[in-house]
Amino acid sequence: MPTSSTSTVHDLVAAAGQPQLLAFWEQLDAAGRDRLETQLRGLDWKQIADCQRLAASRRSAAAVAPPLDLRAAETPPCHPLDSGERAVIEAGREALAAGSVGVILMAGGQGTRLGFDGPKGTFPVGPVSGATLFELLLGPLKAVERRYGRRVPLAILTSAATDAATREFLNQHEFCGLDPEQVLLFQQGTLPAVDAPTGRLLLDAPDHVAVAPDGHGGMLAALAGSGGLSWFARQGVETIVSFQVDNPLARPLDPEFIGRHRLTDASFSTQVILKTDPAERVGVVVEQEGVTRVVEYSDLPDELAAERLADGRLRFHAGSIAIHAFHRAFLERAAADADSLPLHLAHKKVPFLDAEGRLIEPASPNAFKFERFIFDLMPLAERVTVAEVAVAEGFAPLKNPSGAASDSPETVHQAMVAYARRHLTAAGITVADRIDVELDAASILDDDDLRQLATSGSLPGNRIDHPQVVRAGEYRSL
Ligand code: UTP
Repeated sequence: MPTSSTSTVHDLVAAAGQPQLLAFWEQLDAAGRDRLETQLRGLDWKQIADCQRLAASRRSAAAVAPPLDLRAAETPPCHPLDSGERAVIEAGREALAAGSVGVILMAGGQGTRLGFDGPKGTFPVGPVSGATLFELLLGPLKAVERRYGRRVPLAILTSAATDAATREFLNQHEFCGLDPEQVLLFQQGTLPAVDAPTGRLLLDAPDHVAVAPDGHGGMLAALAGSGGLSWFARQGVETIVSFQVDNPLARPLDPEFIGRHRLTDASFSTQVILKTDPAERVGVVVEQEGVTRVVEYSDLPDELAAERLADGRLRFHAGSIAIHAFHRAFLERAAADADSLPLHLAHKKVPFLDAEGRLIEPASPNAFKFERFIFDLMPLAERVTVAEVAVAEGFAPLKNPSGAASDSPETVHQAMVAYARRHLTAAGITVADRIDVELDAASILDDDDLRQLATSGSLPGNRIDHPQVVRAGEYRSL
């Protein structure tokens, strides 16, 4: 708790040109003053100045950034993820068996669209098991350990909005079967919102400055600041794969993905899906003059988004699904430079206190929020490798509430059941029509487990006639 005097905190806000932040100081009790002063002293004023400059440039029509010139940009070559190339798969398996792969689960988002009371990771989506996203995404780490005999270190990115509830969930669910020592939770930072017309910071309570999470790019500074990068290094991790909490079909530990990343000596590899609808709201990976980057859908002009190649595919068809593999040394270099990731600004509705201290819930956007995006590291990478995964095999995000046309609990449920049916059938197991089946995340790593199940005789007649979670027996090398 700061011990400095009232005049010192007044000096601080005066120097920052933000005296309105102490508008209710006289009315605060000692605890409220402490809370506000602690928050003010914890703010990164240099970064806030950067935010304000960005907001000012957005206000001045003359300084509005010209639209990206993508005329010369193309989609980079994309390696199919399921090519089955033995040497590539072997390289990935060797990395997993050597224990040199770690993962970061991005779970700091507020999940506003889903509107669920709790971190998105605690949302139940298992079509038969009712397992939560955390259980479905952490399970495969257990399955990898079972197969390769090595633990995969897992760092979970949380935010002020999700940290406490995520810790509570993991404690209550025994870390979804993982060893707590294998898991590091680290929290991303926040950035203040600024009033759009004036660039001033806002209060959302008499003793609290309005802030918002600093975006999934906040992962970089938070990982370095929490000691997470050295935590990975101490465990011999060379490849760090980040993925998002909302996609239960995510394959961050796919041996072919990791093998391709390793064999191409990439510092940044990324998974994409074939974008087929120009209106689909996914960013696309593009390459221009040797630089590869993600262009957000909002930055892609409609006519370019709709342009097609001679073979009928969209010209910009590499839809980013935010599964990235990094060389650890690359992340270390990027983290050493505070300006590696640019700030992005979004015009949003931010509740604030008016001069009389009334909480105003604006009906239209009134403020700028600031975020950093992890994919902005891509142009800094010497070599970028892109792997394309079939949607049905690797992408079923949960973004929207029940009943929505896309990315809802129902569409995720369907995608998971279809995935399970397809892989069971390919392994020679018959699944009765119209029943839900689910593959147990913690024991079924890939088709080898299913083929083994089919030859084990443990499923009578190799038939599934009732909804069930299919579990693997003990793994034997085929
Ligand atoms: P989204 O951009 O889809 O945001 O995050 P969200 O919070 O899940 O949902 P909405 O937009 O509020 O409805 C994509 C991934 O990035 C993580 C999320 O947890 C999710 O895994 N993320 C997002 C963070 O970790 N931190 C952030 O500040 C933002």
